[in-house]
Amino acid sequence: MRPFEWTRLAAALLVLCGTLGVPAWIVLAAGSGSAGAQAPRELRETGLYADPSTQRIASDVLAFRPQYPLWTDGARKRRWIRLPAGSSIDASDPDAWRFPVGTQLWKEFAYERRVETRYMQLGGDGRWVYATYVWSPDGRSASLAPQRGLRGACQSTSGAPHDIPSELDCRACHQGTPSEVLGFSALQLSSARTSREPGDNAAELQLDDFVARGWIRDLPREFRERAPQIAARSERERAVLGYLHGNCASCHNARGPLAELGLDLEFSLARGSSAVRTSVGVESRFQLAELERSERIVPGAPHASVLFRRISSRDPLLQMPALGTHVVDTAAVELVSQWIEQDLAPARLADTHSSHQRQR
Ligand code: HEC
Ligand code: HEC
Repeated sequence: MRPFEWTRLAAALLVLCGTLGVPAWIVLAAGSGSAGAQAPRELRETGLYADPSTQRIASDVLAFRPQYPLWTDGARKRRWIRLPAGSSIDASDPDAWRFPVGTQLWKEFAYERRVETRYMQLGGDGRWVYATYVWSPDGRSASLAPQRGLRGACQSTSGAPHDIPSELDCRACHQGTPSEVLGFSALQLSSARTSREPGDNAAELQLDDFVARGWIRDLPREFRERAPQIAARSERERAVLGYLHGNCASCHNARGPLAELGLDLEFSLARGSSAVRTSVGVESRFQLAELERSERIVPGAPHASVLFRRISSRDPLLQMPALGTHVVDTAAVELVSQWIEQDLAPARLADTHSSHQRQR
């Protein structure tokens, strides 16, 4: 199957399966579903908590927050990392950190209550284990979800279903980049932040903190001296490129399985951004019904731009991101709309191209 055909397939399956309608914890209690390879049955066995009964986080587990988070229908998220004692991350390639065997990462999702905690662990064979734990409604324990995921496991704040992703879904997003870790990177941890979601937890550490603790080694000197940042002409453009990096680049980059599409939304600290070059004025394979020739971005015209139309939709055949969301990210839609309308208006475009060239 050609790689760009699979979302259609996934979307068709989603329509067929609909929502499960049975609370996730009942399915789990009934013992259905198979265990992810090597992942423990219960979240508490992963070592996240010093004391599972009070859910106090273990002292060698550190909290972090990426500056460009993934939108998941308004879910609140907390994230943690632990490295094996005495080990560190090789940060010599600022776009592809190499993590030591045994690294553990967690990401908790909550609406009114916690719904799931996702988990990654790097095995001795160099492969990441992907698993997720579904919280019981009373919030006292979280158990391994079936590998095929759970549709409509609970409701998000807006009333839309929240799906527990399948292991294939985890891999579809995470395996598009070499390190597979998406939110713990030089750019994402940088203290030069323009985040739309300000950190609400003082315990969340940033790049400098991790360097000072010896968790990150060989970070290129320029990023130790000056916090890494997206090069852009304006704060708005920086925020747009950050949104595209955090929400789209795991699939849309120049080095993963979807590279042949030629839509590169990744911000590389080594190479800069190709987002404008690969989208503005570029014909899309996805044709909008009312137009003879559809372009990914038409300067000055959000509603004629495939990229804008797809982030504004949650029709399974149209929506972007292709996975993991049922509710439109209205703040992002507004931001991208203004950028296309104002910053990319035809008169200013020549300027954008030359400014991106200069900043490389
Ligand atoms: C729609 C794409 C998508 C899917 C599906 C997805 N993830 Fe992620 N995940 C991300 C992105 C992007 C980040 C980083 C941004 C953030 O945390 O907001 C992330 C962050 C994480 C983190 C924190 C470490 C890191 O990479 O930053 C863990 C742990 C994680 N995901 C595990 C999982 C597991 C396990 C699954 C499947 C059960 C899964 N994810 C499914 C996109 C996805
Ligand atoms: C889980 C992987 C995944 C994520 C994340 C994702 N996409 Fe896509 N995207 C795809 C696939 C697969 C296709 C090709 C099939 C199709 O058009 O539906 C695609 C196609 C597209 C296209 C049409 C490409 C063309 O030929 O012109 C655009 C535009 C697009 N995506 C934008 C985005 C944006 C913007 C985001 C982030 C907000 C995003 N995508 C996130 C998987 C993804």
